[in-house]
Amino acid sequence: MKQGIDRRTFLKETGTLAAAMTLPVGLVKIAWGAEREETFTFAYISDAHLTQIEGNRFVRNFDKGLQRAVLEVNFMDPPPDFVVFGGDLAQLGKKEEIDHGLEILKKLTLPVKWVIGEHDYYLDLGKYWEEKVSPLHYSFDHKGVHFVTLASILTDDDWTHNRWPSPEERMRQMARLDNPQGSPFMVKKAQRDWLKEDLSKLSRDHPIVILSHSPLYKVFKPWNFWTDDAEEVQAILKPYKNVAVFHGHVHQILYNQIGRISFNAFMSTAWPWPYPVSYSQVPNRVPDITVFMNRADPFKERDATGWGGIDLAGGRSFAHHYQLWENSPRTLKKSPEGKHPKDTQYQNKEDRIPPQRHY
Ligand SMILES: [Fe+2]
Ligand SMILES: [Fe+2]
Repeated sequence: MKQGIDRRTFLKETGTLAAAMTLPVGLVKIAWGAEREETFTFAYISDAHLTQIEGNRFVRNFDKGLQRAVLEVNFMDPPPDFVVFGGDLAQLGKKEEIDHGLEILKKLTLPVKWVIGEHDYYLDLGKYWEEKVSPLHYSFDHKGVHFVTLASILTDDDWTHNRWPSPEERMRQMARLDNPQGSPFMVKKAQRDWLKEDLSKLSRDHPIVILSHSPLYKVFKPWNFWTDDAEEVQAILKPYKNVAVFHGHVHQILYNQIGRISFNAFMSTAWPWPYPVSYSQVPNRVPDITVFMNRADPFKERDATGWGGIDLAGGRSFAHHYQLWENSPRTLKKSPEGKHPKDTQYQNKEDRIPPQRHY
């Protein structure tokens, strides 16, 4: 198992001719199966936020981001085994937006595993998604790895059912980033019980990948970079030795390690969110081990989208390579002896690229 790849190797391996463009797509490589030899990859595309303007007119930039990701994945040679879509296909949960997204993603030549985001959910509480796209939570096995997909964006019944004059208003409230009327996300008890039951058939060293939309730890409550019952979910995962969580929602590179569980966020195909440290009035819990991605210019159309590649190998090694558009490559790596993954070049504060100023 190769411990890491640089950009050139990544491009060579994926065979993407279009690599000079931005690649709003992640690729996860797993050498982790019960049969240790069997390495496989899956691609990860997230947070498309397709936005209907009127009729069949949609926000062009967001369409382009998703279309490019689809192209990149289709160009990969050898192809990944499947694609994970990490949630927030729609902006306001409309059928037209979900249908438009399905139309674009239909061009993928590979099977897709779906994770629901809050933007897909709060208009009709997941009804259309379940009908047309996927169940809200489920598990599957692939080459010796157990995958579990969770709907991590649920919230309490009172907020969901009793507060809002219409489903559209509920959706608009949950679609805002910084909204005191919003409500923290939760996995909730029924799904936690299901998760516990689902994992109970596995041995403690069985490789497990959890796919959620929001981070299954707490970063910043005012922006809902937060899952309120994260500790309960972590307690269910804790007995297992090889657990990696992949999520979207935060639209930025973010990584964390809690006990033996690693957490990895991918970028969005639509836009980057700032790191919550920029909102200094409220304390945040951005993990110390995360080295922030730098941004060339947020006013450029494709800024802070890019490619990412993650290697996992049985918890013994771990590397996350990513590169933003017109930006330097980064690698986050955990050595076999290392306790935490570290940015190989920028973990020390004095080595970091200072954040750009924007006016
Ligand atoms: Fe999103
Ligand atoms: Fe989201």
